[in-house]
Amino acid sequence: MPISFDEQKQIFKLDTDRTTYLIGIGPGGLLGHIYYGPKLNHACGMDMLRADEYPYPPSVTPRDKISFVDYYLFEFPTGGVGDFRPTCLEVRNARGQRGCELVYDSYAIESGKPRLEGLPCSFPGEDDAVQTLYLNLKDEVLGLTVTLLYSAFPRENIITRSVMLANTGMENGGETLHIGRVLSACLDVDQDGQNGYELITLPGAWGRERHVQRSAVRRGRQSVFSLRGESSHQYQPFAALVRHDTNEEQGEAIGLSFVYSGNFLAETEWSQMDQIRLVMGIHPDGFDWELRPGESFDAPEVVLSYSAEGTGQMTRQFHDFFRGHMIRSPYLHRDRPILINNWEATYFDFNTERLLTLAREAKSAGIEMLVMDDGWFGDRKDDFRSLGDWFVNEEKLPGGLSYLVEEVNRIGLKFGIWFEPEMVSPDSEIFRAHPDWALQLCGRKPSCGRMQLVLDITRQEVRDCIMDQLLSILHSANIEYVKWDMNRSLTDVGNLVLPSDRQGELLHRYVLALYEMQERLVTEFPELLLENCSSGGARFDAGELYYSPQIWTSDDTDAIERLRIQEGTAMVFPLSSMGAHVSICPNEQVGRSTPFKTRGDVAMSGTFGYELDIAKLTAEERTQIPGQVADYHRFHGIVADGDYYRLSSWSDSDPFDCWMSVRKDRSEALLTFVQVLGRPNFRSRIIKLRGLDPEARYAVERDGAAEGERSGEELLCCGLRFPNRGDFTSTQVYLKRI
Ligand code: GLA
Repeated sequence: MPISFDEQKQIFKLDTDRTTYLIGIGPGGLLGHIYYGPKLNHACGMDMLRADEYPYPPSVTPRDKISFVDYYLFEFPTGGVGDFRPTCLEVRNARGQRGCELVYDSYAIESGKPRLEGLPCSFPGEDDAVQTLYLNLKDEVLGLTVTLLYSAFPRENIITRSVMLANTGMENGGETLHIGRVLSACLDVDQDGQNGYELITLPGAWGRERHVQRSAVRRGRQSVFSLRGESSHQYQPFAALVRHDTNEEQGEAIGLSFVYSGNFLAETEWSQMDQIRLVMGIHPDGFDWELRPGESFDAPEVVLSYSAEGTGQMTRQFHDFFRGHMIRSPYLHRDRPILINNWEATYFDFNTERLLTLAREAKSAGIEMLVMDDGWFGDRKDDFRSLGDWFVNEEKLPGGLSYLVEEVNRIGLKFGIWFEPEMVSPDSEIFRAHPDWALQLCGRKPSCGRMQLVLDITRQEVRDCIMDQLLSILHSANIEYVKWDMNRSLTDVGNLVLPSDRQGELLHRYVLALYEMQERLVTEFPELLLENCSSGGARFDAGELYYSPQIWTSDDTDAIERLRIQEGTAMVFPLSSMGAHVSICPNEQVGRSTPFKTRGDVAMSGTFGYELDIAKLTAEERTQIPGQVADYHRFHGIVADGDYYRLSSWSDSDPFDCWMSVRKDRSEALLTFVQVLGRPNFRSRIIKLRGLDPEARYAVERDGAAEGERSGEELLCCGLRFPNRGDFTSTQVYLKRI
């Protein structure tokens, strides 16, 4: 079984097929982190915790407790009693004093995995040997029980962690505690001067989401975070420690991904003893949770992917895990309907006739679903009004949704719709009736973003009102897809009903409310295809994948910009989750013109679709659509369920970009090569393929043209040639085992 406890050594051993994680009950019951690395047959000993060296642990002598605590490799460090590195837990007692010390109490090992209250979290598969370790720690002074949960997913080589807090202090009725900080995971490792750890993160901006950044870990603290109420464009709740010599194929990589859609912190400290601590969890700024006697609190999950075979393997483990244990949608393995979205085609300027014209053109090109984006409700003629008024604008859509959807279905397309349920326009019926329903600070006018305010969905009556409207729209017509958007960060985070000492709960309550709303949606419409979106990709995180199998990756649909965005996103998330569309040129975001083929080839590495007015395409471009539609269906299984390999990265300053997906049984593969800029006086580029069966023979097809046969060995070791000409051109190579 994956999890065991060695009574004699006092060590917990968590095994996956290729990794081992070791936790020791150290001196005085201080839980220590011993090891996370390649699979061990036998656990190493407690001596790795160095508790027999000076400064000695408080259980030996109290003399230098604060030094010991500041050097010890903790599984779950707490604040206030000597550890000056980033900690996972800070608790304030009823007298307003901060300090917490956790001592090991008991453990349990169970098969399967529990749910976390109100939070998205991974689940075991049907035939899985997933086990969960519960480590109960106690602070007797506070009357606090902390349960650390570790689940081992053997096949995917993933360990998940989360934390449950319980106020169990019953003496004199117990005291109310305030949790000022609860992070979900900590990893303490030794820094190695020769081959030290570096840090990979995915910073970005609107239109430039999740660009891969690899940097040195420096002495002191470094962090990525969000304080925007959403996981954000600016940073992704992901961080990986990789060795200096780690590359795609080899070397150690430890990736952490946070299953959460709100404020987060991922922070490293390279501390005085040349140790690196990485912590991840809800951002403590602005967080303050009241925990009364008898109450408990669940902190969200962190997913750990350890690979000794480079960042490529770390990524593939994440992909397998999110596909197998996080995404619940029935669409997970299905071909997604190829959609056309009217946003960039019409913006707010549309009516039933214009949409039906778009639908007819789309149908004749082979497209399968029309998505009506922003602008169909209330008095929404621009982005200055009507969010929150989720009733159909009959001036634009005479006959309402039922007529439009029936006509679209009659044309032969499915129908999808856009909502932005968390927002409200000051100029809306709902806001005029309930001005207190927006997040706001007493005595201040809340700040607008895109002329909209954030609804206080932490209030039950607010989310019920919005969800009742949304669900009744969905019941009114045959709507098979919803794009759930969220177009501004949270500010003015105040609520008019919570008492003053609970206002610090608001940001987390907001995320819980969001999850409750989306849970209600997918429960009431289990066959609905839900796509999350947030001004492009500001909420692309594992939490949202629990509700929607795909997320809009970025408003930037330029094929060349997308190379970096999709590369960074796919470092953690499966390609089947990345919303990717072909749009018009010159591109709306960067003004760049790229061939229609390149736009199609790049979008085909995600959930494929179109975001344009077909009437504005050239005849030549238009004739390519049916071929792209057919190719999407031909290749989608490889891309969606296969193993993904980054072969060459434009962001590493190559003039080209190349990646491939290989079916799990290695019978088929799809490689995409994009020549970003042509190079003069240069010869062809040879790319060595990955993931194929060296013993097999493959039929090679380049952009639809047969190119003979090659052995797997030849493709892996010698590679394929790609000409070095043309800007923004692309090649697709399809391989099929013969
Ligand atoms: C956001 C989305 C876009 C579009 C607009 C509509 O910016 O990212 O795709 O839906 O909102 O207002």
